[in-house]
Amino acid sequence: MNKALRKAVIAGNWKMNKTPSEAKALLNEIAPLVKDADCEVVACVPYVDLTTAVEAVKGTNIKIGAENAHWEEKGAFTGEISTGMLKEVGAEYVVLGHSERRQYFGETDETVNKRTKAVLKAGLKPIVCVGELLWERECNITEEVIARQIKLDFFDVTAEDMKNVVIAYEPVWAIGTGKTATADQAEEVCAFIRATLAKLYSQDVADGVTIQYGGSMNDANAAELLSKENVDGGLIGGASLVAEKFAAIVKAASV
Ligand code: PGA
Repeated sequence: MNKALRKAVIAGNWKMNKTPSEAKALLNEIAPLVKDADCEVVACVPYVDLTTAVEAVKGTNIKIGAENAHWEEKGAFTGEISTGMLKEVGAEYVVLGHSERRQYFGETDETVNKRTKAVLKAGLKPIVCVGELLWERECNITEEVIARQIKLDFFDVTAEDMKNVVIAYEPVWAIGTGKTATADQAEEVCAFIRATLAKLYSQDVADGVTIQYGGSMNDANAAELLSKENVDGGLIGGASLVAEKFAAIVKAASV
């Protein structure tokens, strides 16, 4: 299987932005602009926006995702949200292991692994984020860091389940900084992720996994990044909050 056979996934990661009414307004603005997309279009929104967002995209080609999920089905986990809750409100995707969760909220590869398995078990699609810090890149250990994250985050995830997995390569130094990885840097690491999956599973499994790039992707640089063989989509932060910019990225993925 090659890039042409993998479905491109362009997902907005809204982070802690937009109230429910603002979410509705933004999705209403985005929907007509992306209606002819030849890729999967996803908006991952704050928990309290989910119900409104699912309602707002009814009859459109936009799918809705959450920004995290707990691994237990229920229980004494104040402030957490279960996969069953997300399913019931109509979310289809879940961002997991974002570097902001790893940096500010104590997320580890072990908890990312637990969340990934729970999300898959519930029939939701995880978008699992991996990426190196700037100093790790400077110390030339990007591949070690990525390989470790892939091995740990997908520990015990079956080849069958890998069909529903999206991986986002997000170099931490490129997130929200305006410093995009060059298309060649993005391709190099996305190809390395695929090679790592081929070793852990098989070439067939690796060839089927959608691997996104994320980190200051915008309307100006998306086409070049997405032209690379192993870059199958994007996880978009800042630019996903501006309808025209997000739509332009979707368009770049649709050629
Ligand atoms: P950014 O965020 O596009 O604002 O850099 C990307 C992300 O954090 O997923």
